[in-house]
Amino acid sequence: MQFTRQHFDLLESTSRHLAELNLSESPEGLCIVADAQSDGQGRQGRIWFSPPGENLYFSILLKPAVEPSLAVTLPLLAGICVAQTLDSFGLTAQIKWPNDIWIGGRKVCGVLCEMQIIDGMPAIICGIGINVNQRSFPPELDSIATSMNLCAEKSFDREAVLNRFLDVLGINYFLWLKSGFGLFAEFLDAHNALRGKTITVVQGNRELSGAAGSINPDGTLSLLLADGTRANISSGEAHLKRG
Ligand code: BTN
Repeated sequence: MQFTRQHFDLLESTSRHLAELNLSESPEGLCIVADAQSDGQGRQGRIWFSPPGENLYFSILLKPAVEPSLAVTLPLLAGICVAQTLDSFGLTAQIKWPNDIWIGGRKVCGVLCEMQIIDGMPAIICGIGINVNQRSFPPELDSIATSMNLCAEKSFDREAVLNRFLDVLGINYFLWLKSGFGLFAEFLDAHNALRGKTITVVQGNRELSGAAGSINPDGTLSLLLADGTRANISSGEAHLKRG
């Protein structure tokens, strides 16, 4: 895939900027990067804290020639690419299903993908925020967030991190198109932050608790419930039972 980058000093949100373009005419691989966001979008309507000069905020347009139902594993694929990128810089990253990347139990990256269907084909806006050099967080994030810099005790060149990520995405996206998501099962198992942990998955008003198992080839999370049955969870927010 060819990546075409557009850099901005400040956007409300890189994903919103991309969504406002004419996606049917925009090339696959278009990558909108901002130094800062004034209204960065997180999951569940949350704000993604996006101060200037420290982190990476970018959104990539993907237009895979697959049925929309097969594109649901792309957010996880993006997370795998982030984890491999961080690993390549000497960090030990884990994937917290469905969309977070953790280092040492704290969130270093969030992925938020939105899919549109254009003429029956999926167009995915894949928004990624990586905390690269940030060393302090607002009080509400202080105990749950981290950055590459805090974990490695050194600063990183943001451009080098983005370049590496795009290289990794280019390779993995090609493999995903050719062979499917199952190819990444081994990596996911080895980097699954939730496996074996007692968790609660919140899906709107519904909560399901159990022991997290593997991430399945369709991207669902296997959960062993208290009554001994297994549920395959396709979406939701997973919370670890602390203590
Ligand atoms: C999450 O809540 O974990 C997902 C956060 C995704 C943030 C990124 S930053 C770049 C892109 N633009 C946005 O407005 N959001 C995503």
